[in-house]
Amino acid sequence: MFPLAQRMSLISESITLAVSAKAAAMEKAGIDVVRFGAGEPDFDTPAFIKDAAKVALDKGQTKYTPTPCVAELKEAIAKKFNSENGLAYKPEQITVGAGGKHCLYMAFMAVLDPGDEVLIPSPYWVSYPEQVKLAGGVNKIIRGEESNGFKITPRQLQEAISPKTRVLIINSPSNPGGHAYTPAELKALADVVVKHPQVIVFSDEIYEKLIFDGLKFVSFATLDPQLMDRTLTFNCHSKSFAMTGWRVGYVGGPKPVIDAMNKLQSQMTSHITSFAQIPAAIALSDPRGPESIEQMRKQFEKRGKHMWERLCSLPRISCVRPQGAFYAFPNVAAYFDRSIGGTKITDAVSFSAALLEHNRVAVVPGNDSGFDTHVRLSFATGMEQIDKGIDRIGEFLKKLA
Ligand SMILES: Cc1ncc(COP(=O)(O)O)c(C=O)c1O
Repeated sequence: MFPLAQRMSLISESITLAVSAKAAAMEKAGIDVVRFGAGEPDFDTPAFIKDAAKVALDKGQTKYTPTPCVAELKEAIAKKFNSENGLAYKPEQITVGAGGKHCLYMAFMAVLDPGDEVLIPSPYWVSYPEQVKLAGGVNKIIRGEESNGFKITPRQLQEAISPKTRVLIINSPSNPGGHAYTPAELKALADVVVKHPQVIVFSDEIYEKLIFDGLKFVSFATLDPQLMDRTLTFNCHSKSFAMTGWRVGYVGGPKPVIDAMNKLQSQMTSHITSFAQIPAAIALSDPRGPESIEQMRKQFEKRGKHMWERLCSLPRISCVRPQGAFYAFPNVAAYFDRSIGGTKITDAVSFSAALLEHNRVAVVPGNDSGFDTHVRLSFATGMEQIDKGIDRIGEFLKKLA
């Protein structure tokens, strides 16, 4: 056996992979599967950004750049944070990485010492706890109850904070819950944070643009003057500009931690892809950016409402109304302990596997997000697929009844 480092046993292979691998195999075999698993927009990257990449290639922007990127990109990001988010970051307070995921990983590596606690509200994005473990931290989950729209309360936060707490993660709008905090709700959490100077905040704002029903987005670091020095603000091009494969993420924060992340990156990846850098700057500064985002946002809002209404009309299914991102996260626990084809449904994983096998719909079980009673359905797919998939789920539930 090839020897592996002990740290590899700290992180687990995603249990959701089995379901998506099976869906892919079924499709390959010609079976028509409705896929609600997508974690990315089904829209193409706007043409003006793709054109900018073609120009960058033609201009020969294919060589090394400074770590973490060219000055134009840092400046465009700083300008975006200032004008859109009210965050007075200077270019030297910005770093970029290969997507939001890489930025978060670098940040955990830069701030966590062994045993430091990280507070993660659930349901949570699957990679947070795994990255925390790799960086030597200890996960402490704060359960966001469905009855409270998956949002944690100030009291829960207060009770979870200990002298060892180092980081609180805030992700609003959220993957997978689809919930989003109101500015007042976030402010109430911020008021708790400021009372505990040992706590810093990672505000994962990558779904900021995909927010529904007139809800106002606010950046966490703006909620109290103290927070600017105690918050890292994460964002990326992946979701807002349908650029998941480009791998462009960025962070604003206090200069010492940004410098530390740059030091890390200088020894790891050096920088993000050179010919993605100027297009990424143009995406943030060109007036066509907001137009393309708004078109996509409106579609997601319409689809989210439709999917949610249809899910709520299914017997014994409850679902928090999606207020952002592109996910619905219904509770399917009422069907546990039922059997189908000799298999007993015991949790979201067995529910998802049976749904795929018997009615050809792929969903993501919530187990890796701290909720083994819920499944995630992405509405980054057309209305027809949404209707077809929910019809099939309805038929599946009848078989379980
Ligand atoms: C909440 C959240 N944070 C971070 C990421 C990572 O984004 P990226 O694709 O830019 O690495 C994702 C991706 O799905 C996400 O849902």
